Amino acid sequence: MQRELTNEMTLFSDNVIANRVTLGARKYITKTELKTQADVTHNIYQAMRQDKVRVILKVMDKGPRNYRQATYDLSEAFIMHRLRHPLIAELLDYYVSDSFATYLEIKPYTTTLNAFVDERAWKLTHAEAASVMFQMLKALQFVHSQNVIHGDIKLSNIALELLAEDDPLAEKLGMRYRVRLIDFGVSLIAAYPAAFYDDGRLLNSITYRPPEILLATTATQAVDVWAAGIVLVNLFMDYTSSNKMQIGSMTRQDQLEMINIFAGPFDYPYESSQAKRLKITRPTLPHVDVVSYFSAVPDDFAVLMQKLLIAKPDQRISAEGALLDLLFTDLYDRDIFP
Ligand SMILES: Nc1ncnc2c1ncn2[C@@H]1O[C@H](COP(=O)(O)OP(=O)(O)OP(=O)(O)O)[C@@H](O)[C@H]1O
Ligand SMILES: [Mg+2]
Repeated sequence: MQRELTNEMTLFSDNVIANRVTLGARKYITKTELKTQADVTHNIYQAMRQDKVRVILKVMDKGPRNYRQATYDLSEAFIMHRLRHPLIAELLDYYVSDSFATYLEIKPYTTTLNAFVDERAWKLTHAEAASVMFQMLKALQFVHSQNVIHGDIKLSNIALELLAEDDPLAEKLGMRYRVRLIDFGVSLIAAYPAAFYDDGRLLNSITYRPPEILLATTATQAVDVWAAGIVLVNLFMDYTSSNKMQIGSMTRQDQLEMINIFAGPFDYPYESSQAKRLKITRPTLPHVDVVSYFSAVPDDFAVLMQKLLIAKPDQRISAEGALLDLLFTDLYDRDIFP
């Protein structure tokens, strides 16, 4: 009896996928793999649809393929679908192929912040740097208000859209690029501050990872605020890439030691069994302070940086609060994307 029921349920689920979700792989007029700066391939393509619309195709076809995996991979689409906003990449469509590969069609943007900063050799004007930070925090304020943690804020996940020469928005923004947040691939729903267990689905690239994630304690929206602080540092110096030599071998402990230098200590039971399992001990390098550690960050950005890079997540400012920084007074008054 029990077994029959299970079979029926399985059949039913398969039919749901077959009849309602699977549309079959679509044909594109052209489809070429997108090579990003680091020449890493991500299963990302530039494609032209039959209706001549250009799209970025994000394909997920790795791992065991079945409807469960497809549903899991579609969480990125479901989250993006909910996050319609002028500073967030626009999801055009999504579908699942017969072999359970999932496809996201996203509007293509001009460049990404890492390429832009690199081209300009870390010499952005203060107006540009302030505008990028303001727009990113404004996007995060919206994401967080929808109970979502982006989870992977970094230069290469911030797309930039070049505005038309006569677009009045350019003057309001103080630059010709509009920020578009991309890559909700590891985003989480944060309906309540849940205890975070290290289940191998770590948030953020290592150099953008806050202490609470390194220590596997809690994941809240404050995770993105910390990463926004590291983005700020990276607008003025090649911080993540100066650590690249070590990134392959960089451990939780290395990163904790570094954070302890610029952000100070974090309450944590370093004697616990969890600490042993995570292979971490109390950091020993002395606390200096964030302003002298990142001396390449100009004075007018230092106050904001200090508010973003606070070790304790419950003392870290919110995205909304950060928007009130004096640095943004002019931008704030222009009522951009209220
Ligand atoms: N809409 C877009 N417009 C322009 N470029 C894009 C767009 N979406 C993605 N890209 C490019 O493709 C890269 C990878 O995309 P995305 O971050 O979504 O994939 P990912 O596999 O999750 O990447 P990673 O694991 O490196 O974070 C981006 O860093 C960017 O260079
Ligand atoms: Mg990415």
